[in-house]
Amino acid sequence: MPLRCVTVLAPAKLNLALDVVGTLPGGYHALDMLMQAVTLHEELVLRPSPGLTVRMPGSFVPVNPKNTALKAALAFFDYTGLLAGVDITVHKKTPVRAGMGGGSADAAGVLVGMNELFAARLSMSELCALGAGIGADVPFALLGGTCRVQGKGDLLKPLPPCPACRFVIVMPSIGVSTPEAFARYDALGSPLHPDCAAQEQAVRAGDLAALCASAGNALEHCSAATQTAAIRARLDAAGALASLMTGSGAAVYGIFADEAAAQAAAASLRAEYRQVYLAAPDRGGARVVRAVR
Ligand code: C5P
Repeated sequence: MPLRCVTVLAPAKLNLALDVVGTLPGGYHALDMLMQAVTLHEELVLRPSPGLTVRMPGSFVPVNPKNTALKAALAFFDYTGLLAGVDITVHKKTPVRAGMGGGSADAAGVLVGMNELFAARLSMSELCALGAGIGADVPFALLGGTCRVQGKGDLLKPLPPCPACRFVIVMPSIGVSTPEAFARYDALGSPLHPDCAAQEQAVRAGDLAALCASAGNALEHCSAATQTAAIRARLDAAGALASLMTGSGAAVYGIFADEAAAQAAAASLRAEYRQVYLAAPDRGGARVVRAVR
């Protein structure tokens, strides 16, 4: 019997390190990063339908041809040749224009959900190839966990789970556009290039102190996000082992040793910032959590 409804959780990500190592054809940048999926999830509900609809209730993200969930649904139908329709509701739980890969998580969630809903049995590498055509971070959103990510964002090396820790994430009131962030990097460059190889070794060794020592973001100094330094100072004062911007910003986060330290820091930051999130490392990527016949 065909499925009537599928629910998917798709984790957002943080960059434990982000370095820009060159330029690629098409205006893209060659990156070297460590990416970590976190327990802040987009929740998607997919149902068969006569047409194709995408809804994002409560979110200001427009459903237009640039919407990553819509692009993913079209790419899935195009690739499989299925003559079907789907109704997709995305409950957005992650901040937008934050550098946390929310749009990529939405696309990954749609691909995984449609694969299940229509029993299409596409492999992970087929889903990653489809996802890479939608956004540079979609392959990671599919795989999740902890990865060294290189190239445009599509060369993934899965690593062992990162050492136990907690993240306190602060989203300032003004977000950042990714293409604009890279354009500013081209104009201004960066004095900071984190050592991703050292951080990979730290993850493999389960060494949180070494992981924190090599955390950093080459896009941070040229970022148009104006509150990064102030938020980092607040996180550091609240006991963060490391603090940095994620992706192209504007969210800034701190790494804490345990839940109690993170809770205390989050409580003090909430006095000043409206959007403060507490998250843990997530060992997976976008996944079906419920299927109804
Ligand atoms: O692929 P995605 O739509 O996520 O990327 C958004 C923008 O970020 C690209 O159009 C490009 O300007 C920039 N980008 C980049 N190099 C990457 C990834 C993204 O320059 N590796």
